[in-house]
Amino acid sequence: MNILFFGPPGAGKGTQSSLLVEKRGMKHISTGDLFRENIKNETPLGMEAKGYMDAGKYVPDSVTLNMVEDVFEKADVSKGFILDGFPRTTPQAEGLDELLEKKSFELGRVIFLEVPKDILVGRLTGRRVCKSCGAVFHIESKPPQKDGVCDECEGELYQRSDDSVDVVGTRLDVYEENTAPLKSYYEKKGLVENVDGLGSAGEVYGRIEALLNS
Ligand code: AP5
Repeated sequence: MNILFFGPPGAGKGTQSSLLVEKRGMKHISTGDLFRENIKNETPLGMEAKGYMDAGKYVPDSVTLNMVEDVFEKADVSKGFILDGFPRTTPQAEGLDELLEKKSFELGRVIFLEVPKDILVGRLTGRRVCKSCGAVFHIESKPPQKDGVCDECEGELYQRSDDSVDVVGTRLDVYEENTAPLKSYYEKKGLVENVDGLGSAGEVYGRIEALLNS
């Protein structure tokens, strides 16, 4: 089973992907994480992506598609994969269709996580991420046991540069303009399942598991 998580910034795509990886061993393909990894390693791809990401804008489609194609070439997706944060534009969705056809992969479900905008802002501005292992926390809904320290590896927690109030506003606008319309692209293919993204991460995960087992 290959899954595409769809939804606005802060809807919980990364959180739910991590839970699916833990329980089902699927390969998590997050374009945001891949760009951040490249920025950390100071690669030319990372340098190109950084300016767009810091401003809350999208990295150009050609750059993003090449990066995803490379992942499909190299990654072990035998237990299925989860696409998180990709595609975000119509050219990316069309490019993904071509890639899937080339590799004889199929998308089983497109899961749309529904969360109201006012909640998204609080989730994003309160998010804290571990510098070492990438574990994700939230100052209210999932606080670390020790302030600023990762529960998993004792690494230092930081706030993503695009999680400031100003940039979050731009990200939500860019999503509405460029990505929200893509929902109908997948509805026409009969693949979209809406999932209520409110409640605890565990409750949302329960809804997703019920859907996948149905
Ligand atoms: P990316 O990293 O993909 O960010 P995003 O799509 O904006 O999504 P987020 O990671 O912010 O949110 P999420 O839905 O994963 O939420 P999470 O689970 O972490 O992309 C960043 C940037 O990279 C883009 O702006 C763009 O510049 C570039 N980029 C990436 N992909 C691209 C592409 N395809 N094309 C072009 N550019 C691209 O949860 C958020 C917080 O809420 C956490 O603190 C979490 O603990 C908390 N939380 C989660 N679930 C719950 C819950 N149920 N209850 C309470 N709190 C919760």
